[in-house]
Amino acid sequence: MMLSGLIFLWRCRPRESYPLPMKPICILNGPNLNLLGQRQPEIYGRETLADIHARCEKRATALGLAIDFRQSNHEGVLIDWIQEARAKASAIIINPAAFTHTSVALLDALTAAELPVIEVHLSNIHKREPFRHHSYVSRAATGVICGLGSKGYELALDALAERLQSIAETRDV
Ligand code: DQA
Repeated sequence: MMLSGLIFLWRCRPRESYPLPMKPICILNGPNLNLLGQRQPEIYGRETLADIHARCEKRATALGLAIDFRQSNHEGVLIDWIQEARAKASAIIINPAAFTHTSVALLDALTAAELPVIEVHLSNIHKREPFRHHSYVSRAATGVICGLGSKGYELALDALAERLQSIAETRDV
C-alpha cells in the first residue's frame, strides 16, 4: 500500500484503539499507612494497606494500566521514589499522610516531577484538627481527593486513565 494510504488509515483508526501509556502509575503512601486496619479504624477504616493495594491492582487492570504501589515511613525515601517516578512513571498518586502538612521537600519533588499528580487522603482532612487543613503538597497536585476512604485511590486511577488518554491523543495528532 502507498505510504499516503497507510497514513490515512492510521489517522482514521477508532479512538478506542489508542494505546494507554506503558509507564506505570506510581502510587505512594506515607508514614503510618502501613498500620492501616489497626490504626484509628474509626477514622481510617478497617481495610489494610494490602487491601488497598489489591483494590488498586484490580481497578488498574480494568483500566488497562499498570501500577507501582509503595509505602514508606521516611520522607527522604518518598522523595527518592518521586525522583525515580519522574523518569519511570506516567503519573503519581500520593497519600503523603502526615508529611502533607509539613513537607516543602515533598512539594518540591512533586513539582520537579512534572507529571500529573493526584493527592489522596482516606479521611476528610478539612473536618479534622486545624493543623490538617493545610496541605503543602496540594500546590503540586492536579487534583485532590479526600474523605472517601480507599475509594479515593480508585477514583484517582479513573481520573488519571482519562487524563493520560487525552494526553496521548493530543501527542498523536
Ligand atoms: C491522611 C490524613 C493525614 O492528616 C494523616 O496524618 C494521615 C493519613 C489520610 O489518609 O486521611 O496519616 O493522609
